[in-house]
Amino acid sequence: MTTLATLNEMKARGEKIAVLTCYDASFAMLMEEAGVDALLVGDSLGMVLQGETTTLSVTLRDMQYHTRCVAKGASRAYVIADMPFGSYQQSPQQALRNAARLMAAGAQMVKLEGGAVMAETVAFLTRRGIPVCGHLGFTPQSVHQLGGYRVQGKSAGDAARLQGDALALQQAGAGLLVLEMVPAALARQATAQLAIPTIGIGAGPDCNGQVLVQHDMLGIYPGKTPRFAHNFMHGADSVQTALRQYVEAVKNGSFPMPAHLF
Ligand code: KIV
Repeated sequence: MTTLATLNEMKARGEKIAVLTCYDASFAMLMEEAGVDALLVGDSLGMVLQGETTTLSVTLRDMQYHTRCVAKGASRAYVIADMPFGSYQQSPQQALRNAARLMAAGAQMVKLEGGAVMAETVAFLTRRGIPVCGHLGFTPQSVHQLGGYRVQGKSAGDAARLQGDALALQQAGAGLLVLEMVPAALARQATAQLAIPTIGIGAGPDCNGQVLVQHDMLGIYPGKTPRFAHNFMHGADSVQTALRQYVEAVKNGSFPMPAHLF
């Protein structure tokens, strides 16, 4: 069974961590069979399953339901569940109450968005037995504040702020960090300065692992596909083959390719 310790050992020996978003038991089984190390029950389900244009309307009940489905199908992979918008920002106590529901549904870790401002909450959860994954760079729940789907950390000031946020989250006890849509050079520096593994999405090849949204990597999302995504169904004769090729490409460093970088 994959644990947080396993993911830390992978970082230590330089083995890349292959992560995919997953929303149901059948895909959890297929992804595990293909060698995916961790399954992220992402609130991206608001867009790819529910047809919304953002993740903002996803509820805790939605996340509990899909986490339970994924946990049923997974026996080896590490299961991470997103805390939905509005379920953790109010207070550490609110976050604990809601994170506990996701853990009870089968998550082994919860993910929340935000930097130093969330450090107190991260410390509150981790000291009470709930592993936390941070999420920096483009944080989809702040899409309206960020002014759209934009690369983050491009200026020297923004890059320094992101580095500070990453250290604050690690210091507070976060066990993993997702970096989304940031320049590859910034992700490389953040990964080098942190002891915890980083998982990139549109963050270049030097993160300790990669994550893609399932519907993007299978080429089945009818909306706009982000520039950093790759359709692994191209040239694959089955979903299983595409999943295996994704894992192989992450492990051997051939994904992401230069065309996917910022
Ligand atoms: O919800 C999600 O799918 C995510 C990934 C984009 C990392 O948070």
